[in-house]
Amino acid sequence: MARTTIVHVLWSISVLFASASHVYHIPSVVSNRSSTAHFTSAASGLDAPKIHPVNSSSFDWWYFDVVSSDPSSLASVVVAFYTTTANAFPFLAPSDTVTVAQIAVSFPNGTTFGATVNADGATVTSDENLSSGDWHNSGFKWTHTGDSTYTVVVDAPDIGVKGTISFHSVAPAHYPCGPAVAGQNMEVGPGIGWANAVPDAAAAVKLTVGGTKLVFKGLGYHDKNWGNELFTTNIAVWYWGHGRLGPYSIVWFDFFALDGREYVSSYAAKDGRIIAASCAPNSIRVRPTGENSTFPPVLSTGNPSGYHITLALAPAATLEMDVVVTGILVDNVFSEYTRAVATITGRLVPAEGHQLGHAAEVLKGKALFDQVKMTA
Ligand SMILES: *[C@@H]1O[C@H](CO)[C@@H](O)[C@H](O)[C@H]1NC(C)=O
Ligand SMILES: *[C@@H]1O[C@H](CO)[C@@H](O)[C@H](O)[C@H]1NC(C)=O
Ligand SMILES: *[C@@H]1O[C@H](CO)[C@@H](O)[C@H](O)[C@H]1NC(C)=O
Ligand SMILES: *[C@@H]1O[C@H](CO)[C@@H](O)[C@H](O)[C@H]1NC(C)=O
Ligand SMILES: *[C@@H]1O[C@H](CO)[C@@H](O)[C@H](O)[C@H]1NC(C)=O
Repeated sequence: MARTTIVHVLWSISVLFASASHVYHIPSVVSNRSSTAHFTSAASGLDAPKIHPVNSSSFDWWYFDVVSSDPSSLASVVVAFYTTTANAFPFLAPSDTVTVAQIAVSFPNGTTFGATVNADGATVTSDENLSSGDWHNSGFKWTHTGDSTYTVVVDAPDIGVKGTISFHSVAPAHYPCGPAVAGQNMEVGPGIGWANAVPDAAAAVKLTVGGTKLVFKGLGYHDKNWGNELFTTNIAVWYWGHGRLGPYSIVWFDFFALDGREYVSSYAAKDGRIIAASCAPNSIRVRPTGENSTFPPVLSTGNPSGYHITLALAPAATLEMDVVVTGILVDNVFSEYTRAVATITGRLVPAEGHQLGHAAEVLKGKALFDQVKMTA
């Protein structure tokens, strides 16, 4: 009897924890209180809001993108759900609401369209490590089904956009320094939180944009960033991107703080399993190549033709990759922010004294990335 009871109690406790679900109501009005940011991972809530409340120096956002897997297509879509002010995150236009949704698409021929809409507050529901969100009266929301499948739903007649973007995750979630386990540091660089719920996904885009259909399949991605200090006070340069080449899903982050210190995060998954996830200094290195490859770049440096990425697949090999820009999606007027579509080629190179069990074939794929540079 006693034993049955104990088993029962343990089972009840595990059910209690397994159904960790929280609903967050985020007002559209900026708070004048001090804002707390969470930078250590917990047993659930990987995709939950990370700052409370949203004051004028804090930012929190949920980001989704898809880039076409067709090498010759420039089609892409990015949807971001923000709770921030333009003061905290200067790449947004000033707004009287902190709850803002944004969409940017590119058609297969590279023509771009973008729009930002205000919401009357937002609701985010965190279920375990998944989330759903509704940016009220903006026409933008996202939902999840229990198995890491996310759907962004847009019905925004004011900007002429309607449809769905679905993501079926093919690579496990991670934090800057490793897999999604409790107690991890979630800062990718000082003061900047990062949780990557969906590093790679089989994604399908079915949108109508200004009367034109944008329908394609590709590689999808979802993450979130946050901080309770102005975005610009912590960053000199960042190189972030994700891609898929051959059997590898990869995510890169190479980050330089204003004091010149470098912070990195590497990620690679294969066959649905993580094979690299690290923030150790030599785990990954991203450097511009070709035209405008001045490093570190400053505001006056033009966009580079590409990047070379070295990603350690410990202990015996590295992935050596070349990212070649094929289309610029966003290039802001102050040249602080650039987003682009790229093709990516790479191969596995054995570490010195090691041999690969097979020939190092050339791998090909696609990527979507951004570059931030903040210093003159
Ligand atoms: C913050 O806003 C509240 C409500 O508007 C106001 O009562 C309070 O005085 C403000 N506090 C500060 C420090 O500005
Ligand atoms: C917001 O919160 C941060 C962190 O507590 C604090 O440093 C900052 O002064 C606050 N900003 C405002 C405008 O109250
Ligand atoms: C590119 O594609 C868009 C969407 O189909 C179309 O509206 C536009 O005219 C095209 N531009 C060119 C230069 O072909
Ligand atoms: C959720 O993520 C935490 C790490 O933040 C991890 O410990 C936990 O096992 C995850 N839960 C599920 C159901 O994947
Ligand atoms: C290099 O920078 C110049 C000046 O900004 C720009 O015109 C050119 O297109 C850039 N090259 C590439 C490959 O983007």
